[in-house]
Amino acid sequence: MNKPCTYVIFGATGNLARVKLMPALYHLEVAGLLPEGTLILASGRRPWDREKWIAEVKEMLIAKARKGLNETLFERFQQRLHYFQGDLTDLNMYTRLKTLIIDDPIFPTNIAFYMSIRPAEFGMVVQNLSDVGLLNEELGWRRVVIEKPFGYDLDSARALHQRLSRHLHEDQIYRIDHYLGKSTVQNVLVFRFANVMLEPLWNRNYIDHIQITHSETLSVAGRADYYDGAGAMRDMIQSHLLQLLTLVAMEPPVSMEAEAMRDEKVKVLKSIRPIPPNAVHAQTYRAQYTTGVIKGQKVIGYLDEDKVPKSSTTETYAAVKLFIDNWRWAGVPFYLRTGKRMAADQSMISIGFKYPPQQFFRASQIQRMRPNWVLLGIQPTACLKAEMTVKEPGLEMNTRQISLDASLRSSDDVAKDAYEELLLDVIKGDRALFLRYDEVEYAWRVVDPIIRVWAMERDYISTYPAGSWGPEESRRLFDRQDQNWRHSLELDDEMTN
Ligand code: BG6
Repeated sequence: MNKPCTYVIFGATGNLARVKLMPALYHLEVAGLLPEGTLILASGRRPWDREKWIAEVKEMLIAKARKGLNETLFERFQQRLHYFQGDLTDLNMYTRLKTLIIDDPIFPTNIAFYMSIRPAEFGMVVQNLSDVGLLNEELGWRRVVIEKPFGYDLDSARALHQRLSRHLHEDQIYRIDHYLGKSTVQNVLVFRFANVMLEPLWNRNYIDHIQITHSETLSVAGRADYYDGAGAMRDMIQSHLLQLLTLVAMEPPVSMEAEAMRDEKVKVLKSIRPIPPNAVHAQTYRAQYTTGVIKGQKVIGYLDEDKVPKSSTTETYAAVKLFIDNWRWAGVPFYLRTGKRMAADQSMISIGFKYPPQQFFRASQIQRMRPNWVLLGIQPTACLKAEMTVKEPGLEMNTRQISLDASLRSSDDVAKDAYEELLLDVIKGDRALFLRYDEVEYAWRVVDPIIRVWAMERDYISTYPAGSWGPEESRRLFDRQDQNWRHSLELDDEMTN
């Protein structure tokens, strides 16, 4: 069993804690995975006491807990909950915090600090913790958990890193990319490295191109103050989609240990060919949603969302074509695409294979020869599909496509949330699913040249109606007429394209 720790959550009264962190910690309690003696110290500005915090948590869990609230388990969980009121800009707050957690023996001496706060505050909070000696590891370990965005561009990411490194060793920093906590994302690794069948095919000789899609029907409502300064390229592609790309493209690591995995991921990021300014137009696409219809309801456009400036040209849709210049992937395009207010919620990886070298079946007998596809559904449907051509029963030599489908739903039909595993890994000290700084740096090196060019063209942006698959014109990223975005995991999707 892991050693107990004190989990300090800064910004505990905010949305992330309410929607993700507290439910995840409760589920770890339910699963019996929180080490005996572990305490959760929530810190926020609101003038609450412990009793009020427990009541708040109970309410959050009633709204969010997967299988409702189990009173007996909540009784056990609430013993762990404490509240500490404080303003992060107030230096005295850190001295009071230290007195509380170091002097009171009920708090375990290993301490994790979860920064559920604005990224602009990470540096200041870490510095203040360090100044009062709270990062000193003499009595127990100290780990700091931060969430993206890790900087706004390459320069700011470096500046943040330098600031944190003054007070923390790299192995004390847990950079969350919550995508890596999703079990369907981890399945990419199992699929690739626990099966020998695909390895001989997993390269430029057989794969035509790869698509990584994350589309959402959601808007930016409630988050516009962050989102309008970020946009889809920074929000999703720089982080989650490039992480997915590394898992799809990496070489087998020497082991599943954190450093071995991260070494291989970094090699992929380093091999991505930088897009020169004069190729940004040909290799990327960006657009913004206008009014449209989502699930039968009329919805407003991005510019009418609360807190979005009327003149904003921030992209809510971004697509990019990348090449990985290494032995395995030379010449294979990787298409990454994401958007808000799209036609469906869909996260998937689509591997398009090449056509057979010879076509034995006359065009009159088949509609169109189609290549094989391997599809990995990440969410909402977790599945693995392989599309193949077979002969249709009968006397004629007609062929048709079939899809071999395997659902990856967990047997109790309840998918665990990514945060559960990640919060537990912090306690365990397992960094395999967290980003090392060089991953962040190299991901910014891919994205930085693109956003620089886009920043110079801020006077115009294409649009797409909410509820659509984005602008049809983004198809121009593909090299050939017979290629197009795959929008779904259905066989028909490829056929109609
Ligand atoms: C976040 C982005 O990191 O990931 C959001 O900031 C996005 O804009 C979200 O909606 C998607 O994650 P998930 O787990 O909801 O698919």
